[in-house]
Order: sequence, then C-alpha cells, then structure tokens
Amino acid sequence: MSTDHSRDVIVVPDAQALAEAAAQRVVDRIADGGNHPAVCLTGGSTPKRLYELLATPPWRERIPWLQVHWFIGDDRFVPPDDPLNNMGMARRAFLDVCAPAGNIHAIATTAATPDDAAAAYEAELRDFQATRRAGQLLFDLVLLGVGPDGHTASLFPNAAALKEHSRSVVGVAHANVAPFVPRVSLTLPCLAQTREMLFLAAGHDKQEILRRMFAGEDLPAGHARAAGGNTLWMLDQAAAPSP
Ligand code: 6PG
Repeated sequence: MSTDHSRDVIVVPDAQALAEAAAQRVVDRIADGGNHPAVCLTGGSTPKRLYELLATPPWRERIPWLQVHWFIGDDRFVPPDDPLNNMGMARRAFLDVCAPAGNIHAIATTAATPDDAAAAYEAELRDFQATRRAGQLLFDLVLLGVGPDGHTASLFPNAAALKEHSRSVVGVAHANVAPFVPRVSLTLPCLAQTREMLFLAAGHDKQEILRRMFAGEDLPAGHARAAGGNTLWMLDQAAAPSP
C-alpha cells in the first residue's frame, strides 16, 4: 500500500481480486457501522462483479441485510428498468435478492426533471441523517469509480456542480462522456460525509487517467475525500500507473 497526498492506494492482481478485496471492505465497514450501517454504491460497470459477490456465499452470510441501508452516488436519468440505470444494475446484481425494499434508497429517475429528482433525494438523505446519532456521518462507506475524463459520480470536469457547497444532490443536464443522458449526482461535500471512501478501478483503460490524477492534475475524482479520514483507491494491476 502506498500513500499519496492523503489517499491510500492498494493494487491487487486482477478484477476478481479487486471484487474480493472490495467485498471484504464492504463487510468490514458494515460490521463497524453501528445499528444501521449506510453504504453509498457507485454505478458504472466496474462494481458489478463486487455486487454479484455480495449476493453469493460466503459474503452473503456476512451482511446483516435487515440493518444495512443502500444509497447510490449518482444515477442516469432513465427509467429504473433501463439497462443504463445504476441502481437498476445494483438491484439486479444483488439488492433485489438480498435487501429489504425499504432499505434500498434509489434516486427517483421517474421524476419530472433531474432537478426534481435531486431535490427529492436530498430530502431523503436529510431524513436518513436525522436517524443517525449526533456527530455520526451520513455514510459508513462510499464507493466510487473514475471515468476516462476524470469524472466521479456524475461530477464532470469544469462542471458547476463541482463547486456546489450548499446542495447535497444536483441535476446534471449534460454528461461529458457516454452514456449521454442527463444525470443526478451527489456533490463532493455530500460524498465526503463518510467514514470511508473507496474508489475502484480496473483494466488498462484506466491507467492513463489514473496517472494524470496521481500526478496532481485538477480532476473531479482527485477532489473527492472522506471527511472520516479514510480515502482509498483500489486498483487492479492493469489499471495501476507504472511507478
Ligand atoms: C456513472 C458513474 C461513473 C462511473 C465511472 C466509471 O453513472 O457512469 O457512476 O462515475 O463510476 O464512469 O465507470 P466504469 O466502471 O463503467 O468504468
């Protein structure tokens, strides 16, 4: 493990090892997360293998499903059953099989507009925060990915949403990379409300953007940090920039 400007980087051999190491961290953060642990999931394709693992023994038995609450860091503004919908992917991969419906907190992508969906999710997060103990962060674990342009969640380079400090969730009219559908995204200060933030990146396609980010380029993913102090990048060997 190496430390780079307040972030830790762990490199594992391949995508399967990444899913397993991430599953262990999910289980650990849930185990030390108190009565109602809260996990904020990420979209994209990278976490699918992790999500499928969580629904599979022995991981499945290690999660107290009735207690854990599941959120999503961003979603594409398409119907819940559209293959592009992030929470839809997570539901099919594990949540619908394992988690009570009331513990799955999806962004309402059937709202009239992305801004309306953002306002509704912000209210849902506020209500959940009200159930937390005094001083307890909103999330126990936030999972994130990084796109080819350095975006994370749906916070794209140079977007106004990056400077948003008063709202927890915003509508994003235009995506910078495919799929080019409107998005709804948690903001950096909201994503920061976690004990641990865990980025997952796999495959050679990620190597160049990770090299630029670790070199200090001003990219959205490089600005995401956990207020709880633990920001971790877990990469497979193919994604890891050469030293
Ligand atoms: C989305 C995301 C996005 C994603 C990265 C990485 O809705 O697209 O949540 O931030 O995590 O683009 O995506 P991949 O895992 O598909 O490379």
